[in-house]
Amino acid sequence: MSAEELATKISKMDISDLVFVDEATGSDETGTGNKDQPFKSAASAVGHIAGQPEAAQESLKIVVKKAGEEQYSYITPSALKKAKNAHELAVKKAKKQAEREARDKEQRDAKLAEEQRKLEESKKVVLTQDPSLPEPKLIRIGEAKKNRNVRVKVNGWVSRLRVQGKDMMFIVLRDGTGYLQCVLNNRLCHTYDALTLTLETSVSLVGEIKELPEGKTAPDGHELVVDFWEVIGKAPGGDEAVSNLFDKDSDPSVLLNQRHLVIRGDRASSVLKVRSRVMRAFRDHFEGVGYAEVTPPCMVQTQVEGGSTLFSFNYYGEEAYLTQSSQLYLETCLPSMGAVYTMNESYRAENSNTRRHLSEYTHCEAEIPFISFEDLLDGIEFMVKDVVNRVWAEPETRAMIEKLNPGFKPLNEPFIRMRYADAITWLNKNGVKRAEDGLDFEFGDDIPEAPERHMTDTIGKPILLTHFPVPIKAFYMPPTKDDPRVTESVDLLMPNVGEIVGGSMRIWDYDTLMAAYKREGLDPKPYYWYLDQRKYGSCPHGGFGLGIERFLAWLTDSYTVRECCLYPRFKDRCQP
Ligand code: 4AD
Repeated sequence: MSAEELATKISKMDISDLVFVDEATGSDETGTGNKDQPFKSAASAVGHIAGQPEAAQESLKIVVKKAGEEQYSYITPSALKKAKNAHELAVKKAKKQAEREARDKEQRDAKLAEEQRKLEESKKVVLTQDPSLPEPKLIRIGEAKKNRNVRVKVNGWVSRLRVQGKDMMFIVLRDGTGYLQCVLNNRLCHTYDALTLTLETSVSLVGEIKELPEGKTAPDGHELVVDFWEVIGKAPGGDEAVSNLFDKDSDPSVLLNQRHLVIRGDRASSVLKVRSRVMRAFRDHFEGVGYAEVTPPCMVQTQVEGGSTLFSFNYYGEEAYLTQSSQLYLETCLPSMGAVYTMNESYRAENSNTRRHLSEYTHCEAEIPFISFEDLLDGIEFMVKDVVNRVWAEPETRAMIEKLNPGFKPLNEPFIRMRYADAITWLNKNGVKRAEDGLDFEFGDDIPEAPERHMTDTIGKPILLTHFPVPIKAFYMPPTKDDPRVTESVDLLMPNVGEIVGGSMRIWDYDTLMAAYKREGLDPKPYYWYLDQRKYGSCPHGGFGLGIERFLAWLTDSYTVRECCLYPRFKDRCQP
């Protein structure tokens, strides 16, 4: 049949005996050989015909439209031969592939069956304690060193796990007091629990702690050679395994969602432990200087540090707030208890998402009667140095700080004392400009976080920054005698963090305080109890507040205060 005749046949849709191949627009994947869905290759057309009933095969003819051509023509005998060869090759290849896949599946199934068999078998391995061995002594990992070579029992969590062949397993156990390498041999590795052991499973291990020979390393230079063990609480494997939930490079929001598991990690748990020691050191410091601890309420009806950061809530139908600072209550304790301190939570509805602001933080505050401003500055400096020395003197805490913050050294030199006005001069001399208009700073400007940090980091030493102007400080701060424009106020600035302490003397005269309320537009009525301190035997006094998380961020070289508390609260984050 000529090309014209074929074209006519196609145009009349007399095409039931044709298998179409369009080398330009056809598809071997989705083609059916119809005119509308042609194949791309003649080999596919041959394959299609081979798949038809034998009687039909004879009558089917392949027609091909080559790339660039307009019309179909019958396949040439040589092209048909080539296509048949190509089809045969493809069939062979597919057969081989199918055989390979079947073989692989068989092997996989056999392996799985073998593993399953081993697991079933392992259920028959039941460990029992050797009655001839002495009763184990229950210890915590922190006590391991002094309990070497006696039979001990240690409970904890599987922090690391290494399986070496079928007869040896290493567990690094964690119990909050340290890490202990534990080695399990032979039958101890053959139980169902051993074969299915996962990270973070809680276990109980019994054995003897042996010093490691030269050249081998493990925490504290020893390992527990286990003679009996059991699982207490399993942790999941697979998708739910702890190691699949996050890693150190995960997005901060993932780490915060998983904070309850993140705190099991080395760095996070060390920071929390240092925090615990730091809180104790503050208490010991205050004990040492003779201040009494008090616990003021956190639900209040007065503000301390300005209305813009108050969290308010409905208190039985009345408006109340979460406290911004316990300072005002501490002041009321002076006549009954003398100098006092607290380690209470404070709350700030901070709208800024910075690395040093939390909505809830632990506020270490102290208030001292009958002191001068100089005494206050000396007290703050002594406290910070003393607390650092106290934690540094504990070998375990010191080791954690050295690991978290390599190169850290306790503070020996006197802190720099700088007036606010001199800080303004420093900023202008060093070319630091105001962010809002790019101009020099002026006396009266609030020094924002970034320039303050730039100055502190450049100077590289703790700075007691004093004498802030009245309008940028709280209502209770008294003006100085020699310059009523500035207050007897102080911020302690630390390199890498910025302000960690805010403090001041307090207005102790009734009328001056009333004038301050008026100036700030505050209603004095809810403060009647605070004003009464100025009515019933007032005295010069002062105090300060230190943010524990900021102190820790400085001490442990943490990037943000969010890593220095258990479950950080900040804008858009109130869980877990
Ligand atoms: O400077 P502040 O606001 O001072 C007071 O609250 C005073 N009433 C304290 C007093 O004199 N008793 O806060 C004191 C310290 C700051 O230096 C900082 O360390 C910490 O509290 N702080 C915060 N820490 C974390 N997140 C926040 N949003 C903080 N706001 C203040």
